[in-house]
Amino acid sequence: MLAYRHAFHAGNHADVLKHCVLQQILLYMNQKDKPYWVIDTHAGAGMYSLESEYANTKGEYHNGVARLQGRDDLPPILQDYLDLVKVCNNKGEWTLYPGSPEIIRRTIRAEDRMRLFELHPTDHDLLAEHFDRDRQAKIFKSDGFAALKALLPPPTKRGLIFMDPPYEIKSDYAKVITALEDGLSRFAEGVYVVWYPILTRGDHIPLVESMRALSEKTLNVSITVQEPDERGFGMLGSGLCVINPPWVLKEKLENILPYLVDALAQFDGAHYELS
Ligand SMILES: C[S@@+](CC[C@H](N)C(=O)[O-])C[C@H]1O[C@@H](n2cnc3c(N)ncnc32)[C@H](O)[C@@H]1O
Repeated sequence: MLAYRHAFHAGNHADVLKHCVLQQILLYMNQKDKPYWVIDTHAGAGMYSLESEYANTKGEYHNGVARLQGRDDLPPILQDYLDLVKVCNNKGEWTLYPGSPEIIRRTIRAEDRMRLFELHPTDHDLLAEHFDRDRQAKIFKSDGFAALKALLPPPTKRGLIFMDPPYEIKSDYAKVITALEDGLSRFAEGVYVVWYPILTRGDHIPLVESMRALSEKTLNVSITVQEPDERGFGMLGSGLCVINPPWVLKEKLENILPYLVDALAQFDGAHYELS
């Protein structure tokens, strides 16, 4: 049933946008003294090899993070992101790509905590091994959607909830909204970040509309970088919809999106949306 493995996609254009935005939100949260929790409801394996068979089946990172490596004109936010990817790699070689748990771990402070959920047995075990004996992280092999009921509000009353489901099963869209409704009823002031793919069938449109209906304080960012394949399918781009975003986020993203789209574009019609 759990067919999705993020190892096939690590470092692709969606990861670039996703992890860059995640890092910036955390950096903003670090500006306030009070500790916070990060709940990653769909954590994946935590770290990925770009030399593995998985990563090289389609080589998606070539049209993602690899397009930023070696550029000497990156805007500061993208430089922050690339620097983080770089410190995960030894001796200047680009062989590893950090998943969201590692992006979070390397950005939070000693007083902050992370709670990571991953259902796939193999990826759960890899994640648990990766964070073995890490006092700030707790790993669970259970449903990340359901987890919010037990964990919200976090004890520190500050938190970021990062929801990154695979959407291979269409019911994930409805589950996101149900989990958000419930989460907001328990912890209205939390920062909720939902990632979504842009597919030809446009399933993300009602998702974003439903999120806007849940909260007036919603910021949506997306990039479209790729055309449909010859059969009319494919992930054309991706986006993140954020409830209770940091007030600076929109302006920060405005400054990098033209550069990012240009760097990741695979066709002339590549574009971004931010509203
Ligand atoms: C897109 S990947 C996560 C990637 C990761 N967030 C990152 O950015 O590196 C989605 C993950 O969710 C897991 N998953 C699917 N349904 C789940 C659920 N209900 N609860 C927890 N994990 C789930 C999958 O096994 C997969 O590893």
